[in-house]
Amino acid sequence: MGRLYVIDHPLIQHKLAIIRDVNTGAKEFRELVDEVAMLMAYEVTRNLPLTDIQVQTPVGMAQCSVISGKKIGLIPILRAGLGMVSGMLRLIPTARVGHIGVYRDPETLQPVEYYCKLPPDIAERDLIVVDPMLATGGSAIASINFIKQKGGTNIRFMCLIASPEGVAALKKAHPDVDIYTAALDECLNDHGYIVPGLGDAGDRLFGTK
Ligand code: PRP
Ligand code: URA
Repeated sequence: MGRLYVIDHPLIQHKLAIIRDVNTGAKEFRELVDEVAMLMAYEVTRNLPLTDIQVQTPVGMAQCSVISGKKIGLIPILRAGLGMVSGMLRLIPTARVGHIGVYRDPETLQPVEYYCKLPPDIAERDLIVVDPMLATGGSAIASINFIKQKGGTNIRFMCLIASPEGVAALKKAHPDVDIYTAALDECLNDHGYIVPGLGDAGDRLFGTK
């Protein structure tokens, strides 16, 4: 079964409190989402396998470790996932970035797919799917279905805020996918919004409401 990691580092929790605040404007919201994504990337990559190597320093030989095996692919779910990419790339600058466009139909809450462009070698990469919100789970599940159809196998999902309903649905649909979140909130409201959440992540990032 996929594991759920709630990353409770004080820096992340402090920044998340400001992100949630209804009085935080788009500029600060964007900057903080970017910073939190960078800090979370540190935890999400914690158990990547290492290979021992020797490095010649100016003084002698050092036994060192480097990340081994597969390369990393980041896959933001459009639109709001875009806000997490540049922060993660600061820590993982060689990652390739694929994009999946999914929006939630406001009436049915069902995910509607409209775009998919992934690196050709996703089967050989450790993939991190990013989206600030895991609400009903529909968007994440549809995106990961897509990625698996295209050959992706080694997949993690990272978000800022998850609902218990979204975690249960994603675990059921994709039990092989570990979930990383900065907060596990109370529930969904009648409109499928996370309570207390942060509102509409895409609109707050891009100032569209
Ligand atoms: C938001 C969010 C997730 C989705 C989560 O996107 O960024 O993709 O909702 O909800 P779910 O778990 O119930 O599917 P939205 O559909 O608002 O699209 P946007 O990013 O283009 O604003
Ligand atoms: N999408 C959002 O942006 N926010 C929510 O709370 C739920 C879905």
